[in-house]
Amino acid sequence: MSALLEIENLTKTFRTRGFFGKVKEVHALNGVSLTIHKGESIGIVGESGCGKSTLANLIVRLEEPTSGTIRLDGKDITHLKEEELRPLRRRIQIVFQDPYSSLSPRMTIGQIVAEPMRVLGGHSEAEIRERAETLLHMVGLQPGALARYPHEFSGGQRQRISIARALMTEPEILILDEPTSALDVSVQAQVLNILTDLREKLHLTYLFISHNLAVVKYISDQTVVMRRGEVVEMGPSDRILTAPSEKYTRELIEAVPMIGKPFRLLEDPAESL
Ligand SMILES: Nc1ncnc2c1ncn2[C@@H]1O[C@H](COP(=O)(O)OP(=O)(O)O)[C@@H](O)[C@H]1O
Ligand SMILES: [Mg+2]
Repeated sequence: MSALLEIENLTKTFRTRGFFGKVKEVHALNGVSLTIHKGESIGIVGESGCGKSTLANLIVRLEEPTSGTIRLDGKDITHLKEEELRPLRRRIQIVFQDPYSSLSPRMTIGQIVAEPMRVLGGHSEAEIRERAETLLHMVGLQPGALARYPHEFSGGQRQRISIARALMTEPEILILDEPTSALDVSVQAQVLNILTDLREKLHLTYLFISHNLAVVKYISDQTVVMRRGEVVEMGPSDRILTAPSEKYTRELIEAVPMIGKPFRLLEDPAESL
């Protein structure tokens, strides 16, 4: 397997000004290295504030790294300028946690979903519409949804719309930053099942972020455990869950009530936690 995305020693320090202009440093990410192979599904797990979103935002360059290297297909993309980044943005897309604030309220679903492909350019309106319809169908929504507005949909439906939107440019890598954390448990299960299907059908590579180890285990072959901006341990998800080598990972496992339960739940969404 060839490395698709390589992250080496990535560091991000935020400098903020507190009261009286005093500069405060937050070491959000502290020397994180990891390699993602084509077709893999990697889960990143850790408590709130451990740097998961920072890692995601650095990869898609919503934030500039303080130091370290990001390589795509062996090519250093860490310091590419906006212009040079554009062709790469097509290949890596991100889905955020909050299905309520991530969709423009005044745009129709059709406009929202089409936007990434319009920005990319080079496609006819007919092509864009066809792909939007195909993707909406793949995430389980009717074509009629295209003419409607975000407020007409539930949280789970909106998150499925966000996923369809992210897939418009035919990305290879999908970064999912807590995509189901704001949803009810049964709706969470539906979205996770859709993500599993999509990965298979579209041969996607996932970087799936969650604070919930059970969710990560369901979706990911490999699990990376993070704490305070650092990688604590990583390995096959089964192994991490059944035989963690770090005390911190054991604590995370113990923090999930009945960790076996969510997997049964996924087969029977009517069952509650
Ligand atoms: N833009 C920012 N400015 C200052 N501090 C930030 C910023 N973004 C994140 N942080 C801090 O960096 C740390 C990691 O945050 P984050 O990556 O959002 O964690 P997670 O996604 O794991 O909850 C936290 O202490 C957070 O407060
Ligand atoms: Mg986060």
